[in-house]
Amino acid sequence: VFTPRIFSGIQPSGGLTLGNYLGALKRFAALQGQGAETIYCLVDLHAITVWQDPETLRRNIREGAAAFMASGVDPAQSILFNQSQVSAHAEMAWLFNTVARVGWMYRMTQFKDKAGKNSENSSLGLLAYPALMAADILTYQATAVPVGEDQKQHLELTRDIAAKFNHDYQTEHFPLTEPLIEGVATRVMSLRDGSKKMSKSDPSDASRINLTDDADTIAQKIRKARTDAEPLPGSIEGLKDRPEARNLVNIHAALSDETPDQVLARFEGQGFGAFKPALADVAVAALEPISRRMGEYMADPAEIDRILGQGAVRADEVATPILESTKEIMGL
Ligand code: ADP
Ligand code: NA
Repeated sequence: VFTPRIFSGIQPSGGLTLGNYLGALKRFAALQGQGAETIYCLVDLHAITVWQDPETLRRNIREGAAAFMASGVDPAQSILFNQSQVSAHAEMAWLFNTVARVGWMYRMTQFKDKAGKNSENSSLGLLAYPALMAADILTYQATAVPVGEDQKQHLELTRDIAAKFNHDYQTEHFPLTEPLIEGVATRVMSLRDGSKKMSKSDPSDASRINLTDDADTIAQKIRKARTDAEPLPGSIEGLKDRPEARNLVNIHAALSDETPDQVLARFEGQGFGAFKPALADVAVAALEPISRRMGEYMADPAEIDRILGQGAVRADEVATPILESTKEIMGL
């Protein structure tokens, strides 16, 4: 039996979006104090699988930590740290490189997307990324991982690695970690194209809301969001074939902690001329305090470094014994 333990991470690759907030950060905060230990991480070793400017990366690590805390992750209730400061992650990743199969890695859709046509020229780390992610999770014997829909395939691979390790070494050392893909915002879509996920790497800034956007920018992006001319139905079922409209209703519901049907009950029969200003209001009300608190944390980088340093010490205390027992099982 494993201690109920939640682990998740976010890459400090800059420009966190409303998708990261609703799909990850907001849920990370909500899972605190619910009976499981919560361990949250900035995954800088993942970020460098594509080249990062060193000074920018250093800043993005602090900004990421500020975003966690501004979203309600409390370093007194959760362990909050930066991946490269806990060496067990990299060491466990190597052990898992010997467990995982090459073919598993080539099947990952994120690798195919990120590597593009010239995949032979991508970093080896980009291909091995899911083995490091499995290491992040299993170095804590985490039982559950809150993630967005896009990480589902990587989570399945983590379970495959745990199962193969347990089988190959005749042990029950690793849990089969449960993905927590819950709520209406597990896949927040682009504001410009209802078939693409909202992402910090989309070339169009109008496609996303950034956590640091000011109120006017948020309102303007929502006003210009692609929609249709139909009135809104009374329930989300009626938006099956209207992805852009469905996305905006889901975003509203996630921000206001309602079901989509509760939101639609207020707008049935009305158009986006009525809906968009209401959505802009809830988005600004939710995001403005976060962006203000991020600014306050960023004004004191030494304090952020201190918090991350303390988190790394606590993470290490959990991770190192699990790494050591893993090596022992393998005969190392
Ligand atoms: P990104 O995908 O933006 O590059 P990460 O890979 O660091 O960021 O993902 C951090 C977390 O945010 C993951 O749990 C991921 O599933 C979640 N996430 C990212 N984009 C979205 C989105 N558009 N909707 C919901 N969750 C998202
Ligand atoms: Na992602």
